[in-house]
Amino acid sequence: MSATSNIAVFLKKESIEQRVRELADMINRDFQGQEVILVGVLNGSFIFCADLIRHLTIPTQIEFVSISSYEGTESTGQVSFRLDVKQSLVGKNVILVEDIVDTGLTISFLLKHMKLKNVKSLKLCSLLLKRSRLKVEVPIDYLGFEIEDKFVIGYGLDFDGHYRELPYIGVYGE
Ligand code: IMP
Repeated sequence: MSATSNIAVFLKKESIEQRVRELADMINRDFQGQEVILVGVLNGSFIFCADLIRHLTIPTQIEFVSISSYEGTESTGQVSFRLDVKQSLVGKNVILVEDIVDTGLTISFLLKHMKLKNVKSLKLCSLLLKRSRLKVEVPIDYLGFEIEDKFVIGYGLDFDGHYRELPYIGVYGE
């Protein structure tokens, strides 16, 4: 377990739970009578994916992708694949699930990559967005919270591999 004395709670567990339920409701409505495949972006989105999928009432499958673009707190701008989806996404309703969109470079790379797979539909669901940091336009269909430019941790988000286990989202060093 990591020390939490220098972390200020930014989004409470209850606020996150409620918003995740609302996002799932929107997805249930939009895809009524259809199947979706959630594609979670590892590692940060694993808790968000787990909570989101448990509120989905439509048929759902889950896949994960893993790419590398971050070291410490600053984006390197370099994106490379560690893991891609294991099944064909041809003709499928795909929802890319991300923890946070910061510069937007990671997710635009993934959206471009997913579009090449001849999916039926492609949507983006992100728990957080730091709009002021965006370097590219990113179309977020299901957004949890827009936040200011702070480095946040918890609920899957890490600082150098730590703090993912926190049930809330906090700001480190405040
Ligand atoms: P982007 O390519 O700059 O949009 O970076 C997105 C990725 O950077 C996210 O999936 C996170 O892994 C990481 N990231 C960006 N901001 C934060 C933050 O405040 N806390 C933890 N991870 C972050």
